[in-house]
Amino acid sequence: MTVKIKKSCDFIFHTIRQDIQKTTSYPISDASGLIKLDAMESPYELPNELREKISKRISLLSFNRYPSTNKKELIQTIKNAFDIPLEADVLFGNGSDELIQLIIQSCCSPGDVVLSPSPSFVYFEMASKFNHAKFIDVPLNNNFQLNMMEMLSAIEKHKPKVIFLAMPNNPTGSLWNNDEVQKIIDNAPGLVVIDEAYQAFTDYTWMQMVTKLPNILVLRTVSKIGLAGLRFGYLSGNHDWINQINKVRPPYNINILTEQAILEIISNKNILDKQTKQILKNKDFLTSELGKFSALTLFPSHANFILIKICNEFDATDIYEKLKKGGVLIKNLSNSHNLLKNCLRISIGTFEENLILLNILKNLIN
Ligand SMILES: Cc1ncc(COP(=O)(O)O)c(C=O)c1O
Repeated sequence: MTVKIKKSCDFIFHTIRQDIQKTTSYPISDASGLIKLDAMESPYELPNELREKISKRISLLSFNRYPSTNKKELIQTIKNAFDIPLEADVLFGNGSDELIQLIIQSCCSPGDVVLSPSPSFVYFEMASKFNHAKFIDVPLNNNFQLNMMEMLSAIEKHKPKVIFLAMPNNPTGSLWNNDEVQKIIDNAPGLVVIDEAYQAFTDYTWMQMVTKLPNILVLRTVSKIGLAGLRFGYLSGNHDWINQINKVRPPYNINILTEQAILEIISNKNILDKQTKQILKNKDFLTSELGKFSALTLFPSHANFILIKICNEFDATDIYEKLKKGGVLIKNLSNSHNLLKNCLRISIGTFEENLILLNILKNLIN
C-alpha cells in the first residue's frame, strides 16, 4: 500500500481563500540604513525627558493582566487634545488601519459596496476585499480633484454601504471642496467616513460635524504626528454608530504600552505640535526647491508629503532606484494607478534630510 504524503502546500491550496492566495500583502519597503521619506512618518524623535516619563509609567504596569476595559481617562485625554465634540463618542484602533477594517466588517455583508475616489489610500480597497465587500473606485480628475458627476452617479448606481473620503488625500495631498463633500454626504445611502489622517497639517476638518450629520464618522491617527510606532487611531461620531462598530472590535485591541505612552505623550502634546510646525516649514522649503526643477510637476499638498510627476524625458522608477542607491527611500507610485504614471511621493524629512534628497535629485535631473 502506498501512503500518499500530503504537503502543507496542498492543504494551503484548498484552504486559504483563492483571492487571498493571489493577492500580495501591504507593500512595505525595507528602509534599513536609508533616510526614510516613504511613509509620511514624522522625522522627529521624542525628547529624552518625555521618553523617561513614558518608561516610568510602563515600569509600573501589570504585564500579566489584560488591559483594563475602563478607557475613561484615555477617552477624555483624546477628546480634549483633538477637539472632539463633547457629545461625540470615540472608538480606538490598533492604528486607523484596524478601524477601517472594523467599519467595513460592521457595515458590509458579502457583496456590499465600499466606494472611494481614486487614487486614494490603498488599504480602503484591501480591507474591502478581505471582508468580502465589493470595492468601487471613482477616478479623480487630472488635477486630482473629485469628479463629482462620476461620484454622484456611482453612488446612485452602486448604493455603497460605506464611502471613504481621505482628506487630505493620500497620495495626492489634495483637499476636497466643502460643498462637494456635503453633496456626497447628502446623497450617500449609508455611512461616509472622512479619513483625516493628515489633518494636523491643515486647518480643514469635519470633526465638529460628527454629531450634527446623521451619516458621517471622522477617522484620525497619531501616526503622522510623530507616533507611528504606537499604532493608535481613533474614530469619532454619534454614540449609536460607535456602539455598533465597537461590537466587532477585537477585545483588548489597545495594549497597555500604547495606552500609557499615549496618555503621557498627549498630555505633552505641545511637543508634537512644535514638531508639526517644523515639518510644515520644512515642507515650504522643499516645495520651493523642488519647484525650481523644470523636469518636475508638483501637485499642491495639504499634508506632510509632496506628490511629484517627472517629465517624460526621465523615468520615475529609475530616479527612485538612484535615490535609494544614494541612501534616500521615497515612494514610487509609477505603476500603481493610471493617473500616477511617472509619479513619486516624498514624505517631508528634517531640513538636513531634505537637502540630501535635493542634492541627489540635482545630479539626476538637472
Ligand atoms: C489616508 C490614510 N488613512 C489611514 C492611514 C493608516 O494610518 P495608521 O498608521 O493609523 O494605520 C494612512 C496611512 O498612510 C493613510 O494615508
